[in-house]
Amino acid sequence: MKGCQSTYYMFVQSGIKMLSPEDVLRKDLKLVHGCPMPCAFVSNWEKIEQFCSRPDDIVIATYPKSGNTWISEIVDMILNDGDIEKCKRDVITKKVPMLEMSVPGVRTSGVEELEKNPSPRIVKTHLPTDLLPKSFWENNCKIIYVARNAKDVSVSYYHFDLMNNLQPFPGTWGEYLEKFIAGKVSYGSWFTHVKNWWNIKEEHPILFLYYEDMKENPKEEIKKIMRFLEKNLNDEVLDRIIHHTSFEVMKDNPLVNYTHLPTTVMDHSKSPFMRKGIIGDWKNYFTVAQNEKFDAIYKTEMSETALQFRTEISSA
Ligand code: A3P
Repeated sequence: MKGCQSTYYMFVQSGIKMLSPEDVLRKDLKLVHGCPMPCAFVSNWEKIEQFCSRPDDIVIATYPKSGNTWISEIVDMILNDGDIEKCKRDVITKKVPMLEMSVPGVRTSGVEELEKNPSPRIVKTHLPTDLLPKSFWENNCKIIYVARNAKDVSVSYYHFDLMNNLQPFPGTWGEYLEKFIAGKVSYGSWFTHVKNWWNIKEEHPILFLYYEDMKENPKEEIKKIMRFLEKNLNDEVLDRIIHHTSFEVMKDNPLVNYTHLPTTVMDHSKSPFMRKGIIGDWKNYFTVAQNEKFDAIYKTEMSETALQFRTEISSA
């Protein structure tokens, strides 16, 4: 515990009330306009709602555990014409701050990090459509939304909640899956999140991508992102981007694998942030009964949408 506290001390701004880790770690979720959120983020909500976007901001929006970090590094590589040295300028949380990230007493919130960054800024968020600050819609900012099949998301999220102390403790896998299905996890229901982002894409410049497509054919998907960002990169550069942002390379890159955060917040000994990066890992966790129940609920929840997901692909 002593070690934890000293790590936390470095993490806390001097001069501001010293927080004990117990103030924000492993606390229950709090509702923000009806959506469950990590308790640490809630006190900063006014600043998030009033956030001033810039017209050239690029937003990367995903439900948690759907590949946000992956796309963030790809976008940064594209904007920097595939220059790896430029992309090594800082850790991912500084290059692509998470808008809603805030831990009371910590040096800089996501909003403050973003305010410091030069344009064009890359903005990470997991917010559902109705909680995204109005300014992004008003400025018609480009948004890349990445969706991932719910079964793999639930397994990834369970492991994330084991290692991320800003989240409530997930309990057993079975208990967690029930909470996930009911939307009683941070950012609420996966069903609502993906459907609302899917529906709003007709009214706004949104590039809607699937994690599964990215795995199957990264080059095609990276080209879509490149065109969306109005860039033109040759094949050699595209291949470099694919390599630099492959799961294996990102897993070993301390600038993007989240090992730079204090272990008080993310404990990689419980489960690494870069865990497996595959499609179909859900089969190692779902029992037959859990799968049947999930499929039945899925059918009802997704009955009125054209949105379709793949839970396995032959090459993954
Ligand atoms: P797993 O837990 O299934 O491995 P996010 O960045 O939105 O939090 O998503 C994290 C998930 O994306 C994790 O899934 C992580 O391993 C996976 N991921 C991160 N980088 C990846 C990459 N380059 N290729 C494939 N998957 C990646």
